[in-house]
Amino acid sequence: MSIFTLLSKKGPTGFSGADTAESVTKGLDLTGKTILLTGCNSGLGREALRVLTSRGARVIGLARTLEKAAEACRSAGNLAIPIACELSDPQGVRSAVAAVKALKVPLDAIMANAGIMALPKLKQAHGYELQFFTNHIGHFALIHGLLGLLTEKGRVVVMSSSAHRMAPKTGIEFGNLSGERGYGAWKHYGQSKLANLLFAKELNRRFAGSSKTAYAVHPGVIATNLGRNMNPAANLLFGLVGPVFLKTIPQGASTEVFAAVHPEAPHFAGRYLADNNPSTNSDLGDDAALAKRLWEASEEIVRKTGG
Ligand SMILES: NC(=O)c1ccc[n+]([C@@H]2O[C@H](COP(=O)([O-])OP(=O)(O)OC[C@H]3O[C@@H](n4cnc5c(N)ncnc54)[C@H](OP(=O)(O)O)[C@@H]3O)[C@@H](O)[C@H]2O)c1
Repeated sequence: MSIFTLLSKKGPTGFSGADTAESVTKGLDLTGKTILLTGCNSGLGREALRVLTSRGARVIGLARTLEKAAEACRSAGNLAIPIACELSDPQGVRSAVAAVKALKVPLDAIMANAGIMALPKLKQAHGYELQFFTNHIGHFALIHGLLGLLTEKGRVVVMSSSAHRMAPKTGIEFGNLSGERGYGAWKHYGQSKLANLLFAKELNRRFAGSSKTAYAVHPGVIATNLGRNMNPAANLLFGLVGPVFLKTIPQGASTEVFAAVHPEAPHFAGRYLADNNPSTNSDLGDDAALAKRLWEASEEIVRKTGG
């Protein structure tokens, strides 16, 4: 048992950070529900896929390639449907939206789980810094394309991170979305995760008057493939200390699964959730004017890049 697990305390939902995706869904029958999940082939997404299908949900599993999505979906039994979606490719996102629409099934939840972290050197797609473009713009375009499929009480769960606090002081550097005016691996990961958080909150505001809800999630700190871009020594250390100090993958997958399917989650709509409970985000994360500006800038980027 990790030190994290030993120190975990229950919050208002009755769960703690030590709960797993299995324990937060214990007793839930998700038969008849359909949930779309990005990044279904690895880490937290793969565990969410496994647990959601084990509870009877149909999961539309998205991964960079059809092969990766199909392999993961096969491992989860016959309730999962694989679709390719390379989030940094606007055409790929458009094709994924079309493929999901062709299934003609309403979506009870969309889980924007996929992500990349801390690329050591500046990388770009369509002239935009790659973490911002993948983690935020890819999901923004995908979710926009699918909003019409959401059920009346549909939920959108956007994976953020406590690393949203590493974003630049101004929050989103609208004048440097290319990264060319100064790049930092963690600063730009932080910016992308702040964008995820602002997007979830703004989406929830725009859902006002309906029963649809949106949530931002910090999953905890978990040794997964996400660390692949960190320097090898840091990654090795992370892997070694993980079992002692960090969350396990089943624990890390719990909060996004809680937000997507637990009957109590809508009480916390529009919130930043961590450890299966409402948590506190940075002040920038609550800046509604910044969120609105990001929304408008994102629409423009999607339009310009053909998404
Ligand atoms: N692990 C943590 O400690 C931690 C902490 C805070 C937040 N998070 C967030 O949790 C989420 C899941 O991360 P994880 O820890 O499970 O990492 P992971 O094992 O690396 O999984 C990330 C998933 O995202 C997919 N992905 C990456 N780039 C993509 C792209 N361009 N298009 C489509 N899919 C793409 C990956 O596909 P490939 O396998 O093909 O690369 C993989 O399926 C991420 O959003 C991450 O930022 C994780």
